[in-house]
Amino acid sequence: MPDPVRSSPDPIRLARIQRRFSEFATEYAALPLYSTVCRHVAHDDETASLLLAARPGQARPVLWLAALHHLVLRNPDLPAARWYPSVTGAASVATGDPWPDVRLTVLDHVDELTRLIATHGTQTNEVNRAVYVAVGLAAATVDSGDVPLAIVELGASAGLLLGVDQYAVELSSPTGSALLGDGGSAVRCSGEDRSGVGALLTAAGAALPAVRGRVGVDLEPVDLASVDEVRWLEACLWPEVPGRIERFRAAADLLRPDPPTVLRGDMVDRLTDAVTLARTDAGGGAHVVVLSSWAMTYLPAPRRRDLAAVLDELAGTVSHLSWLTAEPRGCVPGLDEPEVALEGNTVLGLQRWRHGHALPPTVLGTCHPHGAWIDASLPPSPS
Ligand SMILES: C[S@@+](CC[C@H](N)C(=O)[O-])C[C@H]1O[C@@H](n2cnc3c(N)ncnc32)[C@H](O)[C@@H]1O
Repeated sequence: MPDPVRSSPDPIRLARIQRRFSEFATEYAALPLYSTVCRHVAHDDETASLLLAARPGQARPVLWLAALHHLVLRNPDLPAARWYPSVTGAASVATGDPWPDVRLTVLDHVDELTRLIATHGTQTNEVNRAVYVAVGLAAATVDSGDVPLAIVELGASAGLLLGVDQYAVELSSPTGSALLGDGGSAVRCSGEDRSGVGALLTAAGAALPAVRGRVGVDLEPVDLASVDEVRWLEACLWPEVPGRIERFRAAADLLRPDPPTVLRGDMVDRLTDAVTLARTDAGGGAHVVVLSSWAMTYLPAPRRRDLAAVLDELAGTVSHLSWLTAEPRGCVPGLDEPEVALEGNTVLGLQRWRHGHALPPTVLGTCHPHGAWIDASLPPSPS
């Protein structure tokens, strides 16, 4: 592997990388650790040049930050570690200027960090997205009564959202709060309910049904039993967002003893396998909800249409089939999204087939990309 520090770096690429650090520092100025570190790396060739080792298209500050976060999670005694709430706990994190410790740690671990940067990409599995997944599942199943539920997640990562019914999902609004899932769970997810959808669900008698079958598909599934794979996923989270890492750890711990199956492969190619497996687990008559959260955005447009065609075909054999999507605007074929720019950038969509008949696609609403708020309503009754 070329040594980006000791061999002379390509000045044009390095300047481009340093500009990205500078932009990151400006955009995320509210994060004291990450913005300070990025502001310094933007002017420090030795530390910035580690990112030259990244795979094509991956040379982004978040990868550099994830590699360092991984290092300190694994070695909590390193000087930089005391600046990470994810290592020390929020109450004990150091205050002042983190850069001297961070720079020392980076330069002492150039080989290890370079290897991480050269062999990894960033990946996420954001547990608080259970807020919009829970609302979407309750909305999708509002007409299917006691029919058992099977969920199939496309782009499932470690499969943490497949455990949604085992988490406590709290929707809070000025007029009260609603709870979906398991209120006693150690995994606490919460979001502001801007439209009172929690009260609508309660009034409709709609709850988050028990999930009888759960299967994911991912190009690079993360194995919850692998300490190193889970640590990388954790390292990709930003340590300064309160509650995020704790929630991630709680969910991984909860699901680890009986993790959901996540099939390796492309979501279009493996969709039918995943649905078959989920129906086997849940029972042949199960209502299958195929869901995707920030995953179809990675598909080129023709593959999105291929995915829709596979679902249409599956509707011929699955009597209750729903497709729940939480994606940036413009990713999901068939959804008639409003023309206006949508706040929050995540559109919650629902398409349903009942006994082979396609119901009109519905935009349920919009939500924060990590479930911090939701503004959604229930779909029209299928009658
Ligand atoms: C941003 S992550 C979202 C993970 C999870 N759905 C969540 O919301 O936390 C996107 C995931 O989609 C996966 N992915 C991207 N393209 C894919 C494809 N063509 N087939 C299957 N998985 C894919 C990635 O590997 C990654 O795990």
